[in-house]
Amino acid sequence: MSVMQKTARFMPDQKHDPLLDREGFLGKPFYRVDGEVKVRGQARFTAEFNFPDLAYAVLVHSTIAKGKVSRIDTDRAKREPGVLEVLTYKNMPRLKAPPLVDVRDLKKGMAASDLPILQDASVNWDGQPVAVVIAEKLEQAEHAASLVEVEYVAEEPASSFDAMKPDAETPADVLGEPAVIQIGDAEKAIQEADARIDHVYRTPRYNHNAIEPHATIAVWNEDGTLAVLESSQSVNIAGRTLARIFELDPEDLQVLAPFVGGGFGGKGSLWSHTPLCAAAAKVVKRPVKLALSREGVFRVVGGRTIAEQRVALGARRDGMLSALIHTGLTATTAHGRFAEQCTFPARHLYGAPNLYIEQKIVNLDTVANTWMRAPGESIGTFALESAIDELAYELRIDPIELRRINEPEQDPTKNTKFSSRQLNEAYRRGAEKFGWSARNPEPRSQRNGKWWIGQGVATAYYPFLRFPVKVRLCLYADGRAVVQTPAAEMGMGTATVQIQHAADRLGLPLDRVAFHYGDSKLLDTLVMAGGSNQTASIFAAVQAAVEEAHKALLKLAQKTPGSPLAGAKLDQIQARDGGLCRTGDQGRGESYVDILRHAKQDSVQVEAESKPPMEMMKYSMASYGAQFCEIRVHEETGEVRVSRWLCSLDCGRVVNPRTATSQLRGGIVMGIGMALTEQTLFDERWGRIMNPSLAEYHVPVNLDVPNIEVMFLNIADEQAPSGARGIGEIGITGSAAAIANAVYHATGKRIRELPITLDKLL
Ligand code: MOS
Repeated sequence: MSVMQKTARFMPDQKHDPLLDREGFLGKPFYRVDGEVKVRGQARFTAEFNFPDLAYAVLVHSTIAKGKVSRIDTDRAKREPGVLEVLTYKNMPRLKAPPLVDVRDLKKGMAASDLPILQDASVNWDGQPVAVVIAEKLEQAEHAASLVEVEYVAEEPASSFDAMKPDAETPADVLGEPAVIQIGDAEKAIQEADARIDHVYRTPRYNHNAIEPHATIAVWNEDGTLAVLESSQSVNIAGRTLARIFELDPEDLQVLAPFVGGGFGGKGSLWSHTPLCAAAAKVVKRPVKLALSREGVFRVVGGRTIAEQRVALGARRDGMLSALIHTGLTATTAHGRFAEQCTFPARHLYGAPNLYIEQKIVNLDTVANTWMRAPGESIGTFALESAIDELAYELRIDPIELRRINEPEQDPTKNTKFSSRQLNEAYRRGAEKFGWSARNPEPRSQRNGKWWIGQGVATAYYPFLRFPVKVRLCLYADGRAVVQTPAAEMGMGTATVQIQHAADRLGLPLDRVAFHYGDSKLLDTLVMAGGSNQTASIFAAVQAAVEEAHKALLKLAQKTPGSPLAGAKLDQIQARDGGLCRTGDQGRGESYVDILRHAKQDSVQVEAESKPPMEMMKYSMASYGAQFCEIRVHEETGEVRVSRWLCSLDCGRVVNPRTATSQLRGGIVMGIGMALTEQTLFDERWGRIMNPSLAEYHVPVNLDVPNIEVMFLNIADEQAPSGARGIGEIGITGSAAAIANAVYHATGKRIRELPITLDKLL
């Protein structure tokens, strides 16, 4: 047999994609292909794997935020039964400092912090690992870890956000965009406006609490190569990062993530426990498992930064905005340098002639902050969409109408056309379904018994993102097809939608198509489940790969005497019923099985890479939505309950309404947590997180979540691969503002600081 290898590039705006007009598997609510193994408990997550001779590693965390380890005594720990080794900075293998995230060059690798990992006595945050205990059993390692004696020379940490404000700096850029944008004179325009709003909105720290805490298993092979099971959103980016730290050829490293139990950005970049686990395995010459406890995740994995944002708006009496100011101050660290992009929504949502946007940062001595579902857009829309609601009340204009009036013709800061933006239509249909017009707009005007009732609305926004990625497509003579790329399946339905898409493009039944992912060895390409990009990125590559496979099959068919495809060109054929036929003539064709059999080949294999995302330069591309909610506030206790939710979305074509609805619901639930219950309690005297557990960090539970209705406009975006834009993150955006706006409507109290806890309403 022969195997063909080809690389092709997909040009998204080159020609009209016929799949956009066709009914197929895309758009249907299939169940997740991995649903059954998950509900049966057969899907194994990293920490559930076992190896012969597996040892367990447990971290010892620093209890000061800044300073040095002055004495560390591991003798007692080492004498405990089962203990194999205790690593401190004194006996750690020498490792290279990790490469920091650089979204413009993912090839370098992607760590959340560029601090050397346990290479010296310095302490840079409270919770930083100062020792790793490795033992035969987990319990032995945990007990021995409690016996490691550490003394410190502590320094005063920079841990107060407020105290650091005078030292705020403007970062060089914010995720590759300018930190400051100025159009006209916004301050002056606001002073001269008929109506103005000018407020500061505060959001606390939030921490990652995916259902699966981070875990790693590291195995060094005899030939010096390293295999790592890792709960990761990008196996090959994790692999590249580890390769840099351990000075290995990326070829000599394999990272596997068969299933990931949620990530939300917290498993996007590499954190210190992963190289510590690999170093431990190297030292004890055995496979080592390091599974973080829930508290461990709080100590060594960062979350969403604390933030303070000012939004000022000026408008004419008729509602037209004359000016918009959105400035944001966020915290980061000297070793992570991630300025959360809270001003991004304000750059694209409203057509104000005068605009001022600015982001600043302060550096604190904490664990590195990181991506957390819609980093920036989540808290940014809280501030911006609260302010829009405040202006609507000031002007006595319906908040949906105010947004309609200020809908821009083209992107206000990018000055490009929108690829497809149906935000007004999303509001119109959502309002109708929700019954928006039935509410009395007067604050504190609706009640039921002891409950004040309110309805709120806010815009959801998340940009479109696509990376060039490679896929391999294999068509076998038994009629099966396999798509391979090292994607991450965190429960979103990645495998399911990729099978739907490939089956449609190939004209195969769903059960003939498989999707292989979660293994960096599949293909050397940088795929990441983050920034809501993964589905679109892989779609573009699959489209290119299918075209390549069809070319290869046509070539084979030409060699078969009397083939109905003889003489046909690529643009004269289409996929149908498990093979190819002449366009418009179903009868004149051959199945893939027959083409391969006649050619005496058992497979055709192609690789294809999608081209760089030029559409993102040429157009303003994003998903949009309208969040509607109804809440009630108890007049005596101030308790807020969410009673009803409707999200009306324009996210391009919906690939699978079941998995898409679930993504949106998840995002909204996270938004409810952000608005009402979640917050990381941080003791600024010591720089220490005080509630590192689910008992004290309150994520919403079932009783906190109402029925969430999700509706999609389902209008294909011609610039997006197969018409679909991202859906993973947009659900959390706008949701906290919708709740805050509803709370104002219910009670007449405007809460500008999250979370909206009872005390703020009494
Ligand atoms: Mo998302 S915060 O890019 O995983």
